[in-house]
Amino acid sequence: MTSQKVREQFLSFFKSKEHRIVPSAPMVIKDDPTLMFTNAGMNQFKEFFLGNSTPKHQRVADTQKCLRVSGKHNDLEEVGKDTYHHTMFEMLGNWSFGDYFKKEAITWAWELLTEVYGINKDRLYVSVFEGSDDADKLEMDKEAFDLWKAIVPEDRIIMGDKKDNFWEMGDQGPCGPCSEIHVDIRPDAERKKVIGASLINQDHPLVVEIWNLVFIQYNRKANGKLEDLPEKHIDTGMGFERLCMVLQGVHSNYDTDIFTPLIREIETITNKRYGKDQATDVAIRVVADHVRAVAFSIADGQLPSNTGAGYVIRRILRRAIRYGFTFLDTNKPFIHRLVNVLGEQMGTAFPELKKQHQLIENVIKEEEHSFLGTLEQGLVLLDSIIKSAKSKTIDGQKAFELYDTFGFPIDLTALILEEKGYDLDVEGFEKALQEQKDRSRSASEISKADWTVLMTDTEQEFVGYDMLEADIRLVKYRKVTSKKEGEQYQMVFNLTPFYAEGGGQVGDKGYLEAQNGDVIYIVDTKRENNEIVHFSESLPKEKSGIFKAVVDKKQRQRTAANHTATHLLHQALREILGDHVEQKGSAVHSKYLRFDFSHFSKVTTEQLREVENFVNARIEGQLPLQEQRSIPMKEALAEGAMALFGEKYGDTVRTVRFGQSIELCGGTHVKNTGDIWHFKIVSEGAVAAGIRRIEAITSDAVKDFYFENNRKLFEIKDLLGKSQDPVKAVTALQEENAQLKKQVESLLKDKAKNLKGDLLNEFEEVNGINFLAKKVDLDAGGMKDLAFEIGNTKENVFLLFGAEKEGKALLACYISKNLVGEKELNAGTIVRELGKYIQGGGGGQPFFATAGGKNPAGIQEALKEAKKYIK
Ligand code: SER
Repeated sequence: MTSQKVREQFLSFFKSKEHRIVPSAPMVIKDDPTLMFTNAGMNQFKEFFLGNSTPKHQRVADTQKCLRVSGKHNDLEEVGKDTYHHTMFEMLGNWSFGDYFKKEAITWAWELLTEVYGINKDRLYVSVFEGSDDADKLEMDKEAFDLWKAIVPEDRIIMGDKKDNFWEMGDQGPCGPCSEIHVDIRPDAERKKVIGASLINQDHPLVVEIWNLVFIQYNRKANGKLEDLPEKHIDTGMGFERLCMVLQGVHSNYDTDIFTPLIREIETITNKRYGKDQATDVAIRVVADHVRAVAFSIADGQLPSNTGAGYVIRRILRRAIRYGFTFLDTNKPFIHRLVNVLGEQMGTAFPELKKQHQLIENVIKEEEHSFLGTLEQGLVLLDSIIKSAKSKTIDGQKAFELYDTFGFPIDLTALILEEKGYDLDVEGFEKALQEQKDRSRSASEISKADWTVLMTDTEQEFVGYDMLEADIRLVKYRKVTSKKEGEQYQMVFNLTPFYAEGGGQVGDKGYLEAQNGDVIYIVDTKRENNEIVHFSESLPKEKSGIFKAVVDKKQRQRTAANHTATHLLHQALREILGDHVEQKGSAVHSKYLRFDFSHFSKVTTEQLREVENFVNARIEGQLPLQEQRSIPMKEALAEGAMALFGEKYGDTVRTVRFGQSIELCGGTHVKNTGDIWHFKIVSEGAVAAGIRRIEAITSDAVKDFYFENNRKLFEIKDLLGKSQDPVKAVTALQEENAQLKKQVESLLKDKAKNLKGDLLNEFEEVNGINFLAKKVDLDAGGMKDLAFEIGNTKENVFLLFGAEKEGKALLACYISKNLVGEKELNAGTIVRELGKYIQGGGGGQPFFATAGGKNPAGIQEALKEAKKYIK
């Protein structure tokens, strides 16, 4: 059965049980501070379980793209080593929100596995929660046990502890006991020898869990306590790749048709064979797995970067590059070449892969290039660490610097050291790593108290599209403490005019006025799950009355102008550059806007001007805002609104239209484009391969911009002399400058000639080599020219120059070519080593190399040391 068919049968089975089939949520999560990536099918339904929102359908099923590489569920380091863990995987799931419970979940799961998929019942085991006597004091799940007993013989029911049979999404949130279904696919002979029940949860590659049925009935609170949920729910998750392994009769997820096309392609590109050698196999699995995780993340709009989710993606990709580099002998980018195969294979179920193919390929290729560069540089540095080592054990702190500053992976360091017969001081490395972790953890640690709830049963309403002021009531509040922000309070109200950060737009600021006249400033507004949370530095003394909430009008107006301008900019770019342009990120502040988009070359000055004109024409056209607050997604798309990949949309959406620009958007906008006054681009550049960024300003900021530029022009005119035309005056200065440069160059040449004559007399003979180490008053180019001239005149030369230029130190080493061969002298190695005296580094050819550093005081020392190389 093909994987495509396995997926289809799952969905149609639950459709026949009256489930609504819904699309996978994006894998990268954007509006939940407790989670970076979707790590389970249930994430997108969290609010239904908690009772914070009401689902439209009480039974749903789907296949969800999941990524388990951070937080509570992190499998990254396992992936590749075994045959059944993945970073990205598909989770097939069915859900009941306060509808059916254990009985149906258990019976249907059994029916699907044994009757529809036809898995042999003798090979299936199930597990049941045995209860816990820790602080939670939970009872054994007798109900599940009895239900299973009616279906399977008792010796196939395994009792499991909290680790295996109590499922929690994270440190907080919905949870409950679970029953897992395991399958034993060992050959019959082995099954006879060792009974399957003894291998459950023992990491046996052929006795694996395939489905987890979670009976959600609690909420884990911030204080660690469990609270009963108002209703009971079902959350099931079946590992798609494992299921395919079972149904396709193979013994590894990587032997299913989900992975084999990728593996064949890796074999072709690298000229290695899968299934011949352990280390090669691990590396091929790592690459085949990781390219999926990375490609899907990029398709969801998450590019590799140095922070947050982007950093996790970068690390996954680098792990793949490193395995390729070390075990598949790939020192050129190759992973991007797999994107094609992946698209062909998964593109039907996940069209985003096909649509974004070019971008994904470019981004991966660029990352590969830059990290391979890092690896090469790291190898050179590691080499010099080894050369200067005083013992056979390499300092852990040094290895840590290599890892931390250059991103050189520690396991690679360890491997190379082992090959060369050196040890790594692992303890020293771990210590340095831990210290760094502690530093960054304490900087990002946030502690949140539990909410104090004043009103229950309220549905919060956002009224900020129409009003900037409203009378509101406090529903709940809590204190949060973080190193970055210090102590803050968070408040949720029954209704609010404050816009919560989202869709790239910043959150509103403003204040609350209590009836007794007290004023509380709101410093930021953010969305947490479905709630709008207001941040303040203090709490009102009297909490139960009515407050007047007032949004900072000036900031809101400027932000709205920037948001509307962002839409017009998007329209302009698609019109002028072409409709390959897609939004890849946007930030709308009160002072400026930033827009990232896919486009494969620099936007020319001419095009930028056209874009500005396009937007400004629409501002002058005074186009009114036409919005539809709640229309079916289908209708919005039919009207021409564009949905962004990686964005989560409900069944109904809001559309914002100005003339021909129409977007799905939850942000706040001007009532008329005339309110923007003017639009000005201030910068254009690249953010990643195939992604450009435009920064622009509108309204008051444009006035400030022109005012400031005008002031500068007047200052320049003053400097040039008032009567002069500044352009003519600057051109004249440039010409004069070029003349002077030429003169200086020729004077310097004369000086070098004289210097050469002097220096030739200063050489001393050491061991048959003409040696000179000397400080000179030249720049890098001057030293090079002089060194080569001397080398052409004199034989058997070892020459080291030191120079100080603009507070920096320079070294240049020249060695006659015959000495490089005969005496094994290498200018590159020598300057790199001497570089430490000037606190810098360098390199070059064996016969000529240079180093630069920040410590001119060390030049003399370096010159003094030079002689030791020929002694
Ligand atoms: N949430 C459970 C899991 O991820 C079942 O879907 O295993």
